Amino acid sequence: MKLLFIGDIVGKSGRDIVSSTLSSIREEYDLVIANAENSAHGKGITLKIYQQLRSFGIDYMTMGNHTYSKQMINEHMSEMDRLIVPYNHEKRTTDNYYKIIGCKGISICLCNILGSAFMSESNMEPYPAFEKILEETEKEKIDFYMVDFHGEATSEKRLFLEYFKEKAKIVLGTHTHVQTADADMIGDCAFISDVGMCGAYHSIIGRGIEETIEAYIRKNPSTYTIAEGPAIFCAVGIEIDEMTKRPASIERIRIKPKEN
Ligand SMILES: [Fe+2]
Ligand SMILES: [Fe+2]
Repeated sequence: MKLLFIGDIVGKSGRDIVSSTLSSIREEYDLVIANAENSAHGKGITLKIYQQLRSFGIDYMTMGNHTYSKQMINEHMSEMDRLIVPYNHEKRTTDNYYKIIGCKGISICLCNILGSAFMSESNMEPYPAFEKILEETEKEKIDFYMVDFHGEATSEKRLFLEYFKEKAKIVLGTHTHVQTADADMIGDCAFISDVGMCGAYHSIIGRGIEETIEAYIRKNPSTYTIAEGPAIFCAVGIEIDEMTKRPASIERIRIKPKEN
């Protein structure tokens, strides 16, 4: 069984590159999951964008610290039943923080958890947060847990994997928007510190360069602007052995725009 996990989709450039890339590779995968926390102009998601991402062939979406950046999310949460939000987000209003997904005879529990280092939106450390999910799902038939660990610190992500490796067989970092080179099988667990982003290549992690210079260096008030232009596509492909029901391999996918 082959699974594709797509890193943080940032704004229109990100959505466009995901649409065009999936149109050629979607059929290679049995299950496609994406982090959509930045899909609506860099912050949050809307119902319309959720539906658009679903139409590209994305089966499930995870979120992050920007989950509640668009007010309407709470109104439409019941219509976005394939959206999984971080368990330990201070503004969480829904119990959609895990989903048990059946695919090719394998039962995967997909969860979304915020890291605690430099993450002001987190109201609980990631370790007790995941323990809560384990407790809640202990009677369910689950082959393994897959965690989108949305955090800033690489060390925290690896620590999480090492501590929970009996249960969490796939731990994928998101949030930094920069793909790390450490994708690997750690025993029978597939891991990467950060999957990277899908968004404008010439940008500051997806945000407009000039506007970010104004805001952070010249200290001039500016409007949050998403960069436009050719985009990078970042994801990981994971092969799951249908006999052992365990991940067998993980590969990094990082497609830079041709014209750059
Ligand atoms: Fe992000
Ligand atoms: Fe984030």
